[in-house]
Amino acid sequence: MNFVIIVAAGTGSRMNSDLPKQFLDLNGVPVIMHTIDHFHQSSAISEIILVISKEMEQFWTDLCLKQHYRTPVHLAFGGDTRFASVKNGLAYIQKNFELGTNDYIAVHDGARPIVSSSLIARAFQGAYEHQAIVLARKSIESVRTGNSTSNNAVDRNQVWLVQTPQVFHAELLTRAYCQKEDPLFTDDASVVEKLGNRIAIVEGDAKNIKITYPQDLQIAQFYLNLIKK
Ligand code: CTP
Ligand code: MG
Repeated sequence: MNFVIIVAAGTGSRMNSDLPKQFLDLNGVPVIMHTIDHFHQSSAISEIILVISKEMEQFWTDLCLKQHYRTPVHLAFGGDTRFASVKNGLAYIQKNFELGTNDYIAVHDGARPIVSSSLIARAFQGAYEHQAIVLARKSIESVRTGNSTSNNAVDRNQVWLVQTPQVFHAELLTRAYCQKEDPLFTDDASVVEKLGNRIAIVEGDAKNIKITYPQDLQIAQFYLNLIKK
């Protein structure tokens, strides 16, 4: 079985809006509904686990009723960090399904609504081959490391900008998330890597942006319209 945990329990502090960014309007539909739709349309996915914050539960229920959205998602509740939210999603899977050796789990940011079925398929293919993969793109900008007064150039061909979905063999991901939370974990590959496992890179897509700042909604709108054409 293939699962996806869509994490959507963040507050979106950089967006600076009243409503968390994953619930903001994108082409007449909340961002998160676009995200979920792509996974529904993907034949690679058997079960969708949506992780939202407990405070947004009523909002989510009202949203589904209002939009007659009969999405068969499993609902889990998030924590204070992305790590905690993914961990709760994993706990939901472990409680409600019996995981086997052929099972894989993808983790996806709810704030990435332009993910496509072909990208999801590519990510899973990579995971079947390598057990632990991230989608990523090479940096198109020149890169420096350090701080504003002391820094060095880095070969940009060695720098990968990481996206989601990230896909892992189920047993590997659940084992990795048993470890202690670390504020440096901003994705799942960092957690799995701590076990000593190698992470393979699968080519991502420039359109698979993470909505972070207000202007990203306009960029996402542009990409959505482009895809529809
Ligand atoms: N996320 C989550 N639980 C958290 C924090 C983040 O489920 N406690 C989710 C977000 O909802 C988002 C994804 O993880 O879909 C990626 O996180 P990010 O883009 O950093 O979202 P936020 O943390 O909500 O935004 P910000 O960092 O600007 O506050
Ligand atoms: Mg964040």
